[in-house]
Amino acid sequence: MQIKKVGVVGCGLMGHGIVQVAAQGGCNVICLEAEQAFLDKGLARIEKSVEKLAQKAVEKGKASEADAKAAAAATLGRIRGTTNKADLADCDLVVEAIVEDLGVKKALFAELGSIVKKQGIFASNTSSFPIGEMAEASGRPERFVGLHFFNPVQLMRLVEVVRTDATDDEVFAAARSFGEACGKSPVSCKDTPGFVVNRLLVPFMVQALSMLERGDATKEDIDTAMQFGCGHPMGPITLTDYVGLDTTLYILEGWCERYPDEPAFAIPALLREKVKAGKLGRKSGEGFFKWDGDKKVG
Ligand code: 3HC
Repeated sequence: MQIKKVGVVGCGLMGHGIVQVAAQGGCNVICLEAEQAFLDKGLARIEKSVEKLAQKAVEKGKASEADAKAAAAATLGRIRGTTNKADLADCDLVVEAIVEDLGVKKALFAELGSIVKKQGIFASNTSSFPIGEMAEASGRPERFVGLHFFNPVQLMRLVEVVRTDATDDEVFAAARSFGEACGKSPVSCKDTPGFVVNRLLVPFMVQALSMLERGDATKEDIDTAMQFGCGHPMGPITLTDYVGLDTTLYILEGWCERYPDEPAFAIPALLREKVKAGKLGRKSGEGFFKWDGDKKVG
């Protein structure tokens, strides 16, 4: 079972990165967005990232300028955008990367179940929702996996490949191979809350925000402590900005609803306040820190 044509639903923070790595891995990719304006924004972001990576490859002596340019053009040539779901009909794999709302995701998969060819595999990039529930909604639970990428998708080397009790072995193997084709190291996970990374990472971020809320240390010192004390590439407060405060809150709200007695999932009031104020982190220009694009500026 070889995956050659990939559909990605959503061209936002995660979706645009998935489109890009799949195209870099040689797949033809069709990206579906609800509106042309969102599509244009995502595709422009991909172009910028592909150019940046090409420039880096030349600087590091990994490719000549001509080869890097040709590879970048080939990647971009494999990507097409659409606002019409019917265009996903002949995809071998469709990866969903839309808003973290289980109801919306289930409705999407139910619709895709009647559009995409029967052999097509479905995957969700959800951070935290049960894969099994979406698999049931799609009407093809045996052809359904989780493919959880990490932000920024272009640079992070991991993909979690999540299977449910219903996932077909061949489908699971094909999903892992796709992850490898995208340049990632896949790990296999069961369908548990947060899989491996987020089950460890999100409670860690919650603890850092709770420390800040209590005034135990400044945001700068909490970050510096974990960077220099534990060798993390960025501290937990910056990382929350990077992931998105709204995304972090959605993850926690979903877990709190399902596991109300789990103290590790308790939501810091500070997080709710910031999201209510529209301070969503890097994507909105301000969260716990101020951002100018990818750069932290205050
Ligand atoms: N495409 C292309 N290039 C990019 C890029 C992208 N998307 N993003 C950054 N770059 C470039 C930068 O512009 C920079 O270029 P330069 O050297 O010319 O300035 C280069 O890559 C390296 O970036 P940095 O200078 O910021 O260098 P770092 O070595 O710090 O690497 C990082 C950046 C990989 C993001 C690193 O800080 C890191 O690993 N941070 C932790 C990220 C993390 O933990 N992610 C997981 C979040 S959890 C998640 O996603 C799950 C979800 O479900 C919540």
